[in-house]
Amino acid sequence: MAAMFIFGFLVLPVSAEDNKDSSETVIQKLDYEGFLELAKKRRSIRKFKPDPISDEHIEKIIEAARWAPSGFNSQLWEFVVVRKPALKERIAEIISVEFRKMMQRSAPEGATPPSPKSAGPLMGLSKAPAYILLLGDTRVRKYGPPFMLTDEHKWLSTYLTSLAISYQYMALASTSLGLGSQWVSAVNLPTVPEQIREMLGIPEEMVFFDMFVVGYPDEEPAEKKMRPLEEMLHYDDCGTEDFRTEEQVKAFFGRE
Ligand SMILES: Cc1cc2nc3c(=O)[nH]c(=O)nc-3n(C[C@H](O)[C@H](O)[C@H](O)COP(=O)(O)O)c2cc1C
Repeated sequence: MAAMFIFGFLVLPVSAEDNKDSSETVIQKLDYEGFLELAKKRRSIRKFKPDPISDEHIEKIIEAARWAPSGFNSQLWEFVVVRKPALKERIAEIISVEFRKMMQRSAPEGATPPSPKSAGPLMGLSKAPAYILLLGDTRVRKYGPPFMLTDEHKWLSTYLTSLAISYQYMALASTSLGLGSQWVSAVNLPTVPEQIREMLGIPEEMVFFDMFVVGYPDEEPAEKKMRPLEEMLHYDDCGTEDFRTEEQVKAFFGRE
């Protein structure tokens, strides 16, 4: 059995003879620290260098994503990689326009409306060398267990979760390649999927998951506020007192 690399970490072969532990335990011993390092290293990047990323890198990112688990192994994902500057600019513009409209709609009465130039969390987006539109093929639905057709909530949670996992594999793979990524949920603002669909010729059956923006980071993200492990880890029987109070939740967000 040959050694393999998973996200750049060496995983040694496990033979039946020398394997008193399960192969899972052996991988954990060899690899957990490396995996944790990768998980910590993945951060949201919102400022990118314009340098292009190679086809090889793109393929490595998608190769990792296609190994994600999916509801009834539907592998419903499709990845549209947008690299042409004019198309990226148009997508960024569509999103910015709809984002500003959404900010205006949701602004409290009497508040100063956001300036037309403010693109909010989309700053730096158009400079990134690639946008990956992650799509879910809804035609798989009828081939799943019967409740996929009768239970709308179950179907929604199945396809959204499957796509979210594959999305996260893309993020981890990108980090392992020295790339950064930004999660852009604004691609699902009203009318945005339709506008992009029309521009790129994406069929109706494909639902949009959030957009993955990838490139070489041009910023070092600030340290992240983290909840402690002890606060969120619960074993067996637990009651209300084991969980945060409403005040603690509020305090986490810095609210009075
Ligand atoms: C469901 C979801 C939606 C998100 N949407 C956006 C987004 O539209 N724009 C953005 O810049 N970041 C977005 N993020 C990134 C989060 O803001 C970010 O993960 C969080 O602040 C923690 O920072 P980190 O990713 O650096 O660990 C999103 C993340 C998730 C999981």
